[in-house]
Amino acid sequence: MRRILVTSALPYANGQIHLGHLVETIQTDIWVRFQKLRGHECHYFCADDTHGTPIMIRARNEGISPELLVQRMHVEHLNDFKGFYIEFDNYYSTNTEENRLLSEEVYLKNRTAGNIHSSTLRQAYCEKDQMFLPDRFIRGTCPACGAEDQYGDACESCSKNYAPLDLKNAKCALCGTKPVEKNSEHLFFKLTHFEAFLKTWIHSGALQPEMANKLDEWFLSGLQDWDISRDGPYFGFEIPDAPGKYFYVWLDAPVGYMASCLEWCKRHNRDFAEFWRRDDLVEVYHFIGKDILYFHTLFWPAMLKGAGLRSPTSVFTHGFLTVNGQKMSKSRGTFITARQYLETLDPEYLRYYYAAKLTARVDDLDLQLDDFMLRVNSDLVGKVVNIASRTAGFLHKSFQGRLTATYPEDGGLHQQFVTAGDEIAEWYESREFSKAMRTIMALADSANRFVETKAPWTLAKHPEQAKELHETCTIAINLFRLLMIYLQPVLPVMAEKTRKFLQLPPYSWDGRLQPLCDQTIQEFSHLMVRVDPKKVEALLNTTTPPTQPIQPPALSPDKIIDIEAFSQVELRVAKILQAEPVEGADKLLRLTLDVGELGQKNVFAGIREAYRPDEIVGRLTVLVANLQPRKMRFGISEGMILAAGPGGKELFLLSPDQGAKPGMRIR
Ligand code: 2FM
Ligand code: ZN
Repeated sequence: MRRILVTSALPYANGQIHLGHLVETIQTDIWVRFQKLRGHECHYFCADDTHGTPIMIRARNEGISPELLVQRMHVEHLNDFKGFYIEFDNYYSTNTEENRLLSEEVYLKNRTAGNIHSSTLRQAYCEKDQMFLPDRFIRGTCPACGAEDQYGDACESCSKNYAPLDLKNAKCALCGTKPVEKNSEHLFFKLTHFEAFLKTWIHSGALQPEMANKLDEWFLSGLQDWDISRDGPYFGFEIPDAPGKYFYVWLDAPVGYMASCLEWCKRHNRDFAEFWRRDDLVEVYHFIGKDILYFHTLFWPAMLKGAGLRSPTSVFTHGFLTVNGQKMSKSRGTFITARQYLETLDPEYLRYYYAAKLTARVDDLDLQLDDFMLRVNSDLVGKVVNIASRTAGFLHKSFQGRLTATYPEDGGLHQQFVTAGDEIAEWYESREFSKAMRTIMALADSANRFVETKAPWTLAKHPEQAKELHETCTIAINLFRLLMIYLQPVLPVMAEKTRKFLQLPPYSWDGRLQPLCDQTIQEFSHLMVRVDPKKVEALLNTTTPPTQPIQPPALSPDKIIDIEAFSQVELRVAKILQAEPVEGADKLLRLTLDVGELGQKNVFAGIREAYRPDEIVGRLTVLVANLQPRKMRFGISEGMILAAGPGGKELFLLSPDQGAKPGMRIR
């Protein structure tokens, strides 16, 4: 039995899981399930990648702590993955004590070994926000081509790379002020110390040949030392011997693979050292996208080496996802989140489609939606399920659901299917899933040819041919069973339904060798329905609408009021004591408000589409308290509460910060 540890890249905690992430997690999950099916010990570890400036800023904008934000995203991500039957042994987080301790260990051991040095950098700093600005948080005009509103690292229009402060009219993306230059001490990891080690490791068979070649190009252009520190404020781990400095997110992110494993080891009473401190017991594989090759094949193995830890056995790189031949795009409606997909279509369709297209190479994978429907319908429903659906019924009608007592003569078909299992296993092992699927579908074709030739529907009409009918159906069900064993890594739920239908013990790859006979099977019920084209269309239509850059509308001069006019508006903090729907008015809620010294007020608010009454009871909001009471059809409204947004479902009640009390004046 082999011992195998597998990871897929840790998704950033500040984004939703989309079909692009799923190329990787589905690829990894299939490989892991295959290894388990073969009887190996295989563990799949992943986590959320939680640190860095964007998460800190997003939490700040949402008025919550980064810890709370990452907690919420963790639940969301895990639910999405579960929806696609991704079976992690552990899905952890990089913002954990295990990860802090391991990151410190990796850093301190490297420092002791002389692999860290410090140096001063001159960087863009926003005096208003009091922080150094990452490249992505600086916008300005490209110094080369003049394109406006470009990021601080490279121009999206002419592709030129530059330093952030070379931008013309550089502005802080957070507050719009002009950044200044400021010096800061940074810590660097001396990648150059590892050149010889990396060259050997890269050509040890750890990488796909095209990736090893890509790395050779990087060696030719010279390795650069790597800046592993960031100044506060930064959501991350403070560096032990450098107060106010934090590990750059990419230092602690891959360490998250180990942290996830460590936490699992603690819960399962297993020895972490066997996985990461020696390399003779366990194989370690990382599945990644081609955009993060540099981190996983240079920095990561070098950091591990410098810390006296093992090297990965292999890094498996895949390409990007395109949808209908193009990059996923919000404006084309092809940016599809995991949630949107799950609300519309069966996850096993996508698992199969990806499997049918995945290879061991780094090519991009195109999700062609027409082809997706065609493949799933013709392969899974038309070929595989068809074998059982055309034969199982006769077993129940004429033989009490029982297979023949011994396995009938089948002209070598069963043996041919068993033998093909060796080839299929090789394709799975080498991540040539598309070849595995092709081989399996060729077997399904021969099973269908067998059924058609025997024509059980005709045999059933002739009582004297009952024996042949019984044998035909037994053979067909056996061939179907073998196909489902082979497809189990890809279609775990359909395989499980099949297991119950055929009353089988848990699957194993070798379990296929013995044919099934002399036992009863259950009545056939639906295993998979055809893809509904309307749903595919709906999926494209429900996708996230494009986010358009919003131009601030100019205020017309007659809308301007002076301070006097404004000070006449009496804004008060109000607590919502009661909220109830108003009969005959779909948009209104009747609110009873506590306004402190001003007593209780009755207000009709047009927020019914945006809030359920029980959601807002107890909440503080803002009331225009001196508005002339208005007589409405349902009663008198004694003021207005304030909310933001265009209306309907898109309305957001304004609330004062913690500590405000009902009745307080807003100034
Ligand atoms: O590129 C990304 O989405 C990163 N969050 C991947 C991190 S992988 C690992 F190194 F943590
Ligand atoms: Zn700023």
